Amino acid sequence: MSILKVTDMTVNYGVIQAVKGISFEVEQGEIVALIGANGAGKTTTLHTVTGMIPAKSGSIQFYGTDITKVPAHRIVSMGLAHVPEGRRVFAQLTVLENLKMGAYTRKDKDGIEKSLEEIYKRFPRLEERKSQLAGTLSGGEQQMLAMGRALMSKPKMIVMDEPSMGLSPLYVSEIFKIIQDINESGTTVLLVEQNAKKALSIANKAYVLETGNIVLSGDAKELMNDDSVKKAYLSE
Ligand SMILES: Nc1ncnc2c1ncn2[C@@H]1O[C@H](COP(=O)(O)OP(=O)(O)OP(=O)(O)O)[C@@H](O)[C@H]1O
Ligand SMILES: [Mg+2]
Repeated sequence: MSILKVTDMTVNYGVIQAVKGISFEVEQGEIVALIGANGAGKTTTLHTVTGMIPAKSGSIQFYGTDITKVPAHRIVSMGLAHVPEGRRVFAQLTVLENLKMGAYTRKDKDGIEKSLEEIYKRFPRLEERKSQLAGTLSGGEQQMLAMGRALMSKPKMIVMDEPSMGLSPLYVSEIFKIIQDINESGTTVLLVEQNAKKALSIANKAYVLETGNIVLSGDAKELMNDDSVKKAYLSE
């Protein structure tokens, strides 16, 4: 079943059209990768899906409900969380305070405590550093915190924007392992990545975005062997 269905979505910044009528679907339990060069419209697409910027036209459905005009905080409480580009942790707050911010749409105190325990189990490093200011964490630790914060909303689906950006190869592998792990525990993932090779290697399905248009889509393993994808996105 498609849990996210985007149809003919366009997004403008003033007169500039950044997303030019794209359609894509994410099914329950999948990891779907969205790849493309700088400026292709990946971040814009995620921001629009999560209600942070409005679509100019087209529609977005989440679990069959039209969320095209639903405000961002309500989309979070419907079960769609966002790990933003550049992590965007609250630098002046501690790790624990950042995690609690992720649960701002929830009222179930006991459930929140339970989620916190689960997140500490998944990211022991965050527990060790729970009193540390987030701004003083390393890049990889900040990425874990951004993921942990998103998980605190108990999402059905997470969109992640370039989680491996700026990380050392060791951390990149760890982050991708964590993404697979999050997915295996039942959360559907829409993953935007510059690291197309890694993204395609863990994804079920992928879409290639070029200057605001989806130019290619299909099974991730097949796209990995597609000559145009190899040439444009997989050459080192
Ligand atoms: N706030 C904004 N105002 C005007 N134009 C914008 C704004 N944000 C993005 N754009 C433009 O929209 C286009 C798509 O940008 P977007 O950030 O979605 O690309 P991206 O695929 O995420 O790129 P990157 O890989 O560099 O993160 C770019 O041409 C960008 O300059
Ligand atoms: Mg981006």
